[in-house]
Amino acid sequence: MCGIVAYVGPKDAAPILLEGLQRLEYRGYDSAGVAVVASRALKTRKVKGRVADLAAVVPARFKGATGIGHTRWATHGVPSDVNAHPHLSSDERIAVVHNGIIENADALRQRLEGEGVKFLSETDSEVLSHLIARAVDETDTLEDAVRRALKSVVGTYGIAVVDAQRPGEVVVARLGSPIVLGIGEKEMFAASDVAALVRYTRQVVHLEDGELAVLKADGFHTFGGDARETAKQPLTVDWDTGHYDTGGYEHYLLKEISEQPDTIARTLRGRLDDRFHVAHLGGLNMDARETRSFRRVKIIGCGSAYYSGQIGAQLIEELARIPADAEPASEFRYRSPVVEADTLYVAISQSGETYDTLAAVQELKRKGGRVLGIVNTVGSAIARECDGGVYLHAGPEVSVASTKAFTSTAAAFALLALHLGRVRDLSPADGRRICEGLRALPEQIKEILTQEEHIRALAHRYATSAGMMFIGRVRGYPVAREGAQKLKEVSYVHAEAYPASELKHGPLALIGPEMPTVAIVPDDEMLDKNLTTLGEIRARSGRILMVGHRETDQADDCIVVPKNQNELDPILLSIPLQLFAYHAAVALGRDVDRPRNLAKSVTVE
Ligand code: F6R
Repeated sequence: MCGIVAYVGPKDAAPILLEGLQRLEYRGYDSAGVAVVASRALKTRKVKGRVADLAAVVPARFKGATGIGHTRWATHGVPSDVNAHPHLSSDERIAVVHNGIIENADALRQRLEGEGVKFLSETDSEVLSHLIARAVDETDTLEDAVRRALKSVVGTYGIAVVDAQRPGEVVVARLGSPIVLGIGEKEMFAASDVAALVRYTRQVVHLEDGELAVLKADGFHTFGGDARETAKQPLTVDWDTGHYDTGGYEHYLLKEISEQPDTIARTLRGRLDDRFHVAHLGGLNMDARETRSFRRVKIIGCGSAYYSGQIGAQLIEELARIPADAEPASEFRYRSPVVEADTLYVAISQSGETYDTLAAVQELKRKGGRVLGIVNTVGSAIARECDGGVYLHAGPEVSVASTKAFTSTAAAFALLALHLGRVRDLSPADGRRICEGLRALPEQIKEILTQEEHIRALAHRYATSAGMMFIGRVRGYPVAREGAQKLKEVSYVHAEAYPASELKHGPLALIGPEMPTVAIVPDDEMLDKNLTTLGEIRARSGRILMVGHRETDQADDCIVVPKNQNELDPILLSIPLQLFAYHAAVALGRDVDRPRNLAKSVTVE
């Protein structure tokens, strides 16, 4: 989604803001803008396009040591110069950048227009600058003006505000959209994502929903919804700027696919016990008795996180023999779910900020549910909201399409399933089998990555298809779903995923020479059934690309991956599909890391 950066200190704000915006561009990127305070006036530049387009129109003499910046991913109003943030009050005293959605913007706009305010943009966000400007004359401080303005707002926001009459001060506030403060040496930063801060500081403070902060060069104060000051402990962020570079790869997507031997190893590090064949997951905050008490596991997440949750549900059912299923968090939160005391809820999120997942967790907590998080971003909103959980330690994922977080989440579920299983009926021998399988993953992923050239050639061959079918049975089905998701989001080739067993109940009608099938065919108890399905596709002249553990002449092309334990195979089978999607997108000349219409973390509904 949109990105926010703010700075106050002794330096010129503009270069810091532009650098920060560049690092946030992966979150949303149809327009960008900055405003700085200088000599009790605001200087503003905003453009439709990328941060580089903005940098080109910010003059060298754009001086000012307090400022705010924004990259936009349009929700209300088309991408354009005027709809770009910051939005100014009519007297050009107040400038605001906003992430989120103001749901009552139309009503507020009508009211303000009735009072004579002239709106320049079509955005919901512009109401904020006018509301704050109205309040600022009647209050003693900018924070009071912001607080008062926000009282009339319904919706979600992460905002940063500057006042031309108060150089040296930035006010930020959050409700549903992330804001992180960065503590520097006699300077303060704020951003919607630590990515924009790590070049300057590793000391950060996450704002909670309803909190507001006042930043000055010499420090910050945070306040709760009741305007009382809150005490915050800074966190030290592990990630540095190197984690946000392409590291010599042409795209972040390829870099992140290639990192998976390391990222999986980091997810597993220190968590496997070879003596008792158990997993150590201290972050769950549950003793053995509580761990045994759950009779059901419900997993929620969005998009690829949801598909990794389907892999997780199967792992838990197979290893721990607890009924488990996964559901999109975006659906779960709206259907008034029955929340049961003996169900363990697990929320998955790479960013830890996806609004639908966060809202589902909040709903669960409100109803007394016990919620664990499987989250990549330390200190993120979802991680903070959960009762405990497992951090992935996969490092920042920059490319919009999720890859390393997907496989690390599946590995984290294997750990959770092992943990839940070993306090129940999973035998030491099976525990050992899973521990050994998990330890083998990094080397096996390396082996798959050596096949990149073969997969690239296949991707180039299939990329011109009008559409592709992805099929898999049971363990292979979430792999097929994620494979189709990767292909469509980065290459824009239509892809549909189906359980292989369901093909003959309808979609077989689509199969023909123009609709190739990617079939996930692991060497497990489903092998024969899967081969029969390949025969049925062949009989309709359908082309087949098989991803499995041994070549078959039932398929036109094969990608063979190393065999692990049946339960862990989905992790390895997913990786060629990531490379396939990547190379198909490159072959078609797509903007691989920033696919159209998408943003990295969806912090709005
Ligand atoms: C697809 C993708 C999305 C995310 C989804 C959830 O490649 O990245 O489907 O998986 O938006 O995001 P997180 O995991 O940050 O909650």
